[in-house]
This record gives sequence, C-alpha cells and structure tokens, in this order.
Amino acid sequence: MIAILGAGSLGRLWAATLSAGQVAFVPRPGSMAEPARYTFQPVGRESFKVTVPWLKPGQIPRVLLVTTKAGDTLNALAAALPALPETVPVVLFQNGLGSQQAVADRWPSRPIIAASTTEGANRPKPDTTVHAGLGETWMGALTPAGHSCVAKVIEDLAPTDLVIHPVENVLGKLWQKLVINAGINAFTAILDCPNGDILEHPFYLHWIDPLCQEIAAVLKAAGQPAQTPGALRQQIEGVARKTATNTSSMRADVLAGRRTEIDFINGYLVKLGEQHGIATPVNQMLAGQVQQLN
Ligand code: PAF
Repeated sequence: MIAILGAGSLGRLWAATLSAGQVAFVPRPGSMAEPARYTFQPVGRESFKVTVPWLKPGQIPRVLLVTTKAGDTLNALAAALPALPETVPVVLFQNGLGSQQAVADRWPSRPIIAASTTEGANRPKPDTTVHAGLGETWMGALTPAGHSCVAKVIEDLAPTDLVIHPVENVLGKLWQKLVINAGINAFTAILDCPNGDILEHPFYLHWIDPLCQEIAAVLKAAGQPAQTPGALRQQIEGVARKTATNTSSMRADVLAGRRTEIDFINGYLVKLGEQHGIATPVNQMLAGQVQQLN
C-alpha cells in the first residue's frame, strides 16, 4: 500500500497510476468519509474513473508520498507522522526549496527523500484530473536513513509506469527546478497569462536580466555550480517556450484563490540573499506582487 498525503493534482496523478487497492490518501482535517472519486485523463489514452480510499487507522503504508503545497507540508506531516512507524520512507514532492530542508531538520532520524518532477497534472474541474504532459522524476535522500530506501521506493512505484531516476544530489535537481520556477511562475501569475506569453511582455523583458543576475549570485553563494545570468535566462526561456500554452502552478493557484508557493521560490531566494548579504530587489518585487494577488 502506497499512502499519499495531499489529494491535489499531483497526488491524484500518482494515485491514478497505481492499481486499486494499492493506494490510499491520508485523511486530513476536513477530509470526507467517502473515498475520493474522479475521472483521470492519461496522456494519449482513454480516460477512466478512479476511486481512492482514505488510509484507515492502523494501516501501515510501504511509502508515504507527500504532495501537499510547500506551505502546508510541515503541519500536514506533524499530524500524519505520529501514526506511522519511523521506518516508513517519506517522499517530498514540494515545489521550490525550504520546505524540504525544514522536514529533514524536524525528523532527522526518519528516511526523508526529496523528489523533483517534471510530470504535469491539472484539475480543470474538481472531479477531473488531467495528466497534462509526460515527464520524469528524480528522487534522492535528504537524511541518512533515506539513502538505503531510495532504490526500494523506486521499485515500489514501478507499477505507476512513470519514469523515476535515483539521484545522489537531489538538492542540485531541486535548485535547477527552482531557477525555472523563479523565472516563469511569478511573471505568469502577475501578468495572468500562459507561460509562453511572458516572453514578449515588456514587464518580463524589463526584469528578466536583473532577475537572472540575482539568481546567479545566490546560486553561487549557496554552493551550487556557477552559472552565468545569460545561461539562466536561456534555460528559463527554453522551458517557457516548451510549455508555452500551460498555465503555471502559481497562476493556477492565484486563479483558484489558493495560497501560492512564492515564499519557497522567489521568497526563498530573498531569504538566502539576506543570509549571504546579496541584494535581491527583483525577487523581492516579484514576491511582493504575488503576495498581493493572494
Ligand atoms: O510550476 C509550474 O507550473 C512548472 O514547474 C513550470 C515549469 C513553470 C511549467 O508550467
């Protein structure tokens, strides 16, 4: 049994790729007693109905996948983990950075694993989950106990048919994704447009180079491989073009009236900049504008 904490788009994607009876959502305050029922639209195949029960008291999963929003993760785990043995691997799927380290710091003796994924999922309607694009997932340990669990977790998730790779330096992977999210998400939320449309917008064109200079400086200070601002801009724009018609997760959060993950993306770069004495006015401006949209 695989347990999933967080029944949003990503949690529903992973649940739908596992067979019935092999997966359950972890109940949270306010969860209904009824199982979660939805239609799942896979990539290039017929849609099908999915029913996912809630984990029952006393049921012990082999793995816990955590697909909550970054800002909810600590509280959600604080409520869920007391019922689970210390040996159950916990796999964190949060966007950005900061929440993963907070979990590893709070439960250092548990097997904590971080995942970085490019799988795309969305919920155009509450009862429908769409696998918007096939991607890949990288998993690596954040705590000493996590190291010996990564291969087993990937084996346990093999029935999903999703592509998963083990990775030694998962923080490096999370940083690569953070750079892309820092250069796309806030702009799409502020400008209220699909990813590709930011590229021609004067607001984006005005701020992208100074933003990439700030990101390059923070990356270096954080001990990540040095990258030029120009190389960062190229990566950001490559992804914006490839996902041109997508609504970013941050724009989707704003449109749905949910709290965004800005504190863990541009907000994280601001915090790290402060720690290292690096000025990050563009990240601050973007974070401030998105906070106002919230
Ligand atoms: O957060 C997201 O929406 C995605 O990571 C990305 C890459 C911006 C594509 O939409």
